[in-house]
Amino acid sequence: MANTESTALAAGTVVDRTPEWAALAAHHAEISGVTLRKLFADDPGRADSFTVEADGLRLDYSKNIVTARTVELLLALARRAGLGARIEAMFGGERINVTENRPVLHVALRTPLGTSIHVDGVDVVPEVHAVLDRMSAFCDRVRSGVWTGATGEHITTVVNIGIGGSDLGPAMAYQALRDYSDRSIAVRFVSNVDPTDIWEATHDLDPARTLFIVASKTFTTLETLANARAARAWLTAALGQDAVAHHFVAVSTNAEKVAEFGIDTANMFEFWDWVGGRYSMDSAIGLALMVAIGPHHFREMLAGFHAMDVHFRNTPFERNLPVLLGVLGLWYRDFFGAQSHAVLPYSQYLDRFPAYLQQLDMESNGKSVDLAGRPVPVPTGPVVWGTPGTNGQHAYFQLLHQGTTVVPADFIGFLAPNHPGVGDVDQHVLLMANFFAQTEALAFGRTAEEVAAEGVDAGLVPHRTFAGNRPTNTLLAPKLTPFALGQLVALYEHKVFTQGVVWGVNSYDQWGVELGKVLAGRIIPELTDPSASPRHDSSTNALINLFRSV
Ligand code: F6P
Repeated sequence: MANTESTALAAGTVVDRTPEWAALAAHHAEISGVTLRKLFADDPGRADSFTVEADGLRLDYSKNIVTARTVELLLALARRAGLGARIEAMFGGERINVTENRPVLHVALRTPLGTSIHVDGVDVVPEVHAVLDRMSAFCDRVRSGVWTGATGEHITTVVNIGIGGSDLGPAMAYQALRDYSDRSIAVRFVSNVDPTDIWEATHDLDPARTLFIVASKTFTTLETLANARAARAWLTAALGQDAVAHHFVAVSTNAEKVAEFGIDTANMFEFWDWVGGRYSMDSAIGLALMVAIGPHHFREMLAGFHAMDVHFRNTPFERNLPVLLGVLGLWYRDFFGAQSHAVLPYSQYLDRFPAYLQQLDMESNGKSVDLAGRPVPVPTGPVVWGTPGTNGQHAYFQLLHQGTTVVPADFIGFLAPNHPGVGDVDQHVLLMANFFAQTEALAFGRTAEEVAAEGVDAGLVPHRTFAGNRPTNTLLAPKLTPFALGQLVALYEHKVFTQGVVWGVNSYDQWGVELGKVLAGRIIPELTDPSASPRHDSSTNALINLFRSV
């Protein structure tokens, strides 16, 4: 069936009341006892049948507890939820973020010139490219030393001040693409309102050679403004007030607040309210990254994003990487009761990738009401976590192999290394041997008979037995390049989209972060004004009073 031939839910229907859901529930009861050992033994062509590829990025999902029938049923559910039509609605600029009445158009940030995407009758693609061109010109000036500090010195450190989507994306990508960065300019990231963060980021820097990028979509975020004020005080103490124009630039949608802070809006790089914070790393929010890797590599990354966008929009669901990852995640979350999902990159450069995905996934799909405000009757977004292999193997993999909870996992690896290694040990071979070994061990385990046959003491057999049947996806790219990173991020963006559509939630708002912000705002004066008496529950009052007493 073509992707857009949707059999969307009738108004008022919730996903678990559909025949497709019922069919999946029945199917789950039938196959939940099936083992991966048996599935592989019964079908020698299984790996081929369950491997798909998009522009060199390969997904082998054969080590999942699925049959061809499972995939068929999962995709039927996605169709019933109207996934094809929803994809077109997003790419077409419809206001699918209904609670904020906004389009969701991060895909426009990487759309090549010549394609039109309209918001309120205006083609936004030329605007996107105009900002990209301004960013490129600015980054070239900083990188070449044409942009100087107030005293004429070259910039050697860029400090990005932002939080959430204004930090995690560029920080992750800066780390991921270090191999492509200009090592003569360091980039640091400050996000936490904890004063140690800005102190540690600045105390050893030369103000005359430091450039601050204040990145905030709203330019009202408490943490970012507090850190930006601290940075401004640090800078002006050394170089005077007039230095601010040479050492501060901003990335925001809010020119008024940027000017109010004292940053020349000529040095502001804009983006738009149709870009969600956690979907903004490829907008001007990526300015610090572009300084580091240069405009050329940044545009290669955008090409990777765009390639995945095209794949997502045009490829039949049966071969569509984000759709498959989305429905597989839903299979475990809703039918196996898996509460978490691990993302395990076998690349030290992707150290921050799981943290980035935490915001992308959990702020998007950590929802319990649907678009109409009704409770969602089934579990939605899982807890996302992970760290690079092989480190995790020496920490929590014990639980993945022998614990009592099943944690589906994505293993991400690269065929070629960024660095061949030093000396006579091919460390990339060691890394990848572990990468392949782990999914094999998780899938197939080791039976008690196999353990006993090795001559293991009978008392130890249960301890050394591995149940197996732990589901994994394997994602393999030729090499960690800017293009590959763009593909990977877009892959997960669209996976999250797919799941949000099936669950019927709005993946593009984040009301859940508001209450804590409001309460913190109330508590600030109670901590600083001795005459204010805290008015909360007895626990919160006591804690506040303890803080005031020291
Ligand atoms: O944590 C809530 C949030 O609004 C995120 O969605 C966003 O990425 C972050 O705060 C930062 O917001 P801003 O870019 O407006 O400072």
